[in-house]
Amino acid sequence: MNKFTYQNTTEIHFGEGQISAIATSIPKEVKILVTYGGGSIKGNGVYDQVVAALAEHNWDEFSGIEPNPQYDTLMKAVERVRAEGFDYLLAVGGGSVVDGTKFIAAAVNFKGPEAWDILAKQGKIESALPLGCILTLPATGSETNTGAVVTRGKEKLPFMNPLVRPQFAVLDPQTTLSLSERQTSNGVVDAFVHVMEQYLTYPVNGKIQDRFAEGILLTLLEEGPKLMVNLQDLEARTNVMWAATQALSGLIGVGVPQDWGTHMIGHELTGNFGVDHGRSLTIILPAIMEVCRVTKKAKLLQYAERVWNITEGSEDERIDAAIAKTKQFFAHMKTPISLSEVDLTESDIDTVMASLEAHGMTKLGEHGTVELADSRRVLELAL
Ligand code: NZQ
Ligand code: ZN
Repeated sequence: MNKFTYQNTTEIHFGEGQISAIATSIPKEVKILVTYGGGSIKGNGVYDQVVAALAEHNWDEFSGIEPNPQYDTLMKAVERVRAEGFDYLLAVGGGSVVDGTKFIAAAVNFKGPEAWDILAKQGKIESALPLGCILTLPATGSETNTGAVVTRGKEKLPFMNPLVRPQFAVLDPQTTLSLSERQTSNGVVDAFVHVMEQYLTYPVNGKIQDRFAEGILLTLLEEGPKLMVNLQDLEARTNVMWAATQALSGLIGVGVPQDWGTHMIGHELTGNFGVDHGRSLTIILPAIMEVCRVTKKAKLLQYAERVWNITEGSEDERIDAAIAKTKQFFAHMKTPISLSEVDLTESDIDTVMASLEAHGMTKLGEHGTVELADSRRVLELAL
């Protein structure tokens, strides 16, 4: 196992009715900007619960943060924060609202010429406004982690900074009952791939990380399909919510190598063609498993045995079976496993390749050995 320093300071309020906890988690003397998206929180009772919980606080709101949050929208919020003197942000929604709010928190006091530099040049963040979140879509893990992804036109770029880790996260599975089938499945597969990015690399004898990762994968394999049968299965929603948080809280990634190649290629599919984040991943991951089957061999065999009980056959046959099972799971979750399913063809591959190159994504993977030619093979295999 590699050496590491680990700290996750987000206070988690999990379970029914926990939105009321924001009344005490946010100090009374601050001026809060509540941020949200296109209005789902108005339809499922979450907004009303926030209003009730903040009855004794000074707050106003900013709505309209899009899925794949847009830089221009977020900068409007930044201007409002500066003009009206807000000093606390409360994000209410899915990963896009949480990510967008993290960016607002970092951009308000950013000293560089343009806040986009936080993403494009990894500009130094010296301070950020404190933020908390109420998560309504289990998927990204953004609720307790330090990362955020922001989109500007066709560019979709990540940044990470401990200063934007939410101070608290409310996780009430009841709030997820209003999710559509598509958003539900997108969330399950996103969490699944987050685990794979931190697990499917090469062994470093990180036993806790491996067993935790396998536990999250098995939970998602068990609970995800239940939701495809019954979106109102609250027990499954509850376990999926906790699984998605743990998938990217940072815990399973300490002391082990990480890949993230599927995400980097997936981001280009979203940026260029608007493919949903989760769906971009289910298209790319099986092809990465195939193209990287030699460098990932030991972990592929471990995944095959411990997650899918595949113990018979040659090593190649077991790896083939594990890739096939992974594809079956994604298909079962009604997510695409090929570019053609999202109406992309061979001619679109050049566009993705140009974006990868422009964004410096030329050496991906846990060894930094997945070069542009390999990414092209991944995309061709995914056709
Ligand atoms: O905008 P509203 O009206 O709230 O509707 C949203 C949105 O249309 C809706 N929704 C959310 N909660 C709902 C609901 N609808 C009904 N009931 C509810 N309870 O769902 C739609 C999608 O929401 P979005 O926030 O975009 O989805 P998700 O949570 O999947 O977030 C995706 C974004 O997170 C980034 C992605 O790249 C993408 O931009 N990621 C962030 C990561 C991180 N911070 O660590 C890691 C991830 O890998 C990912 O890259
Ligand atoms: Zn993701």
